[in-house]
Amino acid sequence: MMNENQRLEGQQIKEANPSDKKSDKDYSKFFETVYTPPSLKDAKKRGKEEVSYHKDFDIPEEFRGMGKGRKFYIRTYGCQMNEHDTEVMAGIFLNLGYEPTNTTEDADVILLNTCAIRENAENKVFGELGHLKPLKVEKPDLIIGVCGCMSQEESVVNKILKTYNQVDMIFGTHNIHRLPHILNEAYMSKEMVVEVWSKEGDVIENLPKVRRGNIKAWVNIMYGCDKFCTYCIVPFTRGKERSRRPEDIIQEVRQLAAQGYQEVTLLGQNVNAYGKDFTDIKFGLGELMEEMRKIDIPRVRFTTSHPRDFDDHLIEVLAKGGNLVEHIHLPVQSGSTDVLKIMARKYSREQYLELVRKIKAAIPDAVLTTDIIVGYPNETDEQFEETMSLYREVGFDTAYTFIYSPREGTPAAKMQDNVPMEVKKQRLQRLNSLVNEGSAEAMKKYLGEIVEVLVEGESKNNPDVMAGYTRKNKLVNFKAPKTAIGKLVKVRVTDARTWSLNGEMVDEMVEQLEAAEVN
Ligand code: 5AD
Ligand code: SF4
Repeated sequence: MMNENQRLEGQQIKEANPSDKKSDKDYSKFFETVYTPPSLKDAKKRGKEEVSYHKDFDIPEEFRGMGKGRKFYIRTYGCQMNEHDTEVMAGIFLNLGYEPTNTTEDADVILLNTCAIRENAENKVFGELGHLKPLKVEKPDLIIGVCGCMSQEESVVNKILKTYNQVDMIFGTHNIHRLPHILNEAYMSKEMVVEVWSKEGDVIENLPKVRRGNIKAWVNIMYGCDKFCTYCIVPFTRGKERSRRPEDIIQEVRQLAAQGYQEVTLLGQNVNAYGKDFTDIKFGLGELMEEMRKIDIPRVRFTTSHPRDFDDHLIEVLAKGGNLVEHIHLPVQSGSTDVLKIMARKYSREQYLELVRKIKAAIPDAVLTTDIIVGYPNETDEQFEETMSLYREVGFDTAYTFIYSPREGTPAAKMQDNVPMEVKKQRLQRLNSLVNEGSAEAMKKYLGEIVEVLVEGESKNNPDVMAGYTRKNKLVNFKAPKTAIGKLVKVRVTDARTWSLNGEMVDEMVEQLEAAEVN
């Protein structure tokens, strides 16, 4: 990163001048600005105004041929929400007449859909922008865009404006539907086009999307987060909580089922707050999952949960099983009540354990996974040990673990921190050993068992071996004909590794699939 800055030092700075951007006041809201930088202060505000739903999205006629003879490339960083946003942007590109390409060299438009959750995620993007610089020199008509969560940060936008003049456009997470206009501006303008809305209360329906595969699909159920955990940038980059209407979600999932999809994952930053913003109906995640059970699709998952809003009704519904899988990702972040308090998680260690007890009582074979942050400002050894002991006590199958990374604008970033990085790294290492041990142990329980696997495709290293996931999200590798792809098959587990299982497909299934291959 530092090298990157040094290398680019002294370049001509191509800074947008706000004053000559607001020239035409007759333009609608959509055309008014090409320089709308983000403001974390505005992003923090949570107004009382109701969410407006727009169901009339369309690609403007005048832009439809824009992509003719041009190719687009999108690189996605970060979470599933971003992956899904990329599917939407790809849908818009196709509707504009662009073709997809999977190499940057071949592309006429390159988009980096970025993640702001930790500093190293951001560094990767700045590094990539550096790599793209020569391409831009070679091909001056190339459009390079930065979108996603990093675009919502003032410091990032200022840094790009100053140092990365290979970038042609920056737009935010609330402006995705504006891609045709922003692209058009980028082609017309010599300046960097910056359009980042910091405060947005809208839900835009019927955006086009090209899904990455035809087996599993992501479905947004809500946007934004109002929790404001003290370390987290997400409430700033993704705005206030807005739920999609149940009927729109149900219709989308029904359609996916009709198209033959086998699994959907309902997405939101804090899915347990689903429906809290409705003023006319009482309809939460429990009610939504009840509706999902009625849809003829084999598997339904959701992510990510916040323990605070995980209510009894939801547990009751999940316990009915059916297509609702028995895997729950339930980020705990820390096992210490004191640390949880400073994180503003709004639950204690005991309350989390009580929730786990309730879930296990209702769903005895539930698999729990979690997220944990170590090295929070001033985290003591004892507090870290509480995280270790909670991990053992819950018996998580696995976890995503992180060293705390200060995010500018969040309350935690202003805290004094007396924990040296060396200590944080040691804690992470110890926690990771425990996570590995726990995962290996969880995997061993499957030895000799027959599991249901949704076959996703060939394994990375061997085209004769197929790979897929169980309901509880365990990766399974096994020999099978290609006709198995996209199907739910039964596999006997013969070997348990730390992160995956190996197995053999049970006989009758092999025969059926081989017959399908011959036909
Ligand atoms: N530093 C480290 N980890 C973080 N996460 C969120 N913000 C930060 C941060 N500032 C982790 C949390 C969250 C996951 C998606 O990323 O564990 O659940
Ligand atoms: Fe961030 Fe999740 Fe907390 Fe929301 S609930 S602030 S997304 S960690």
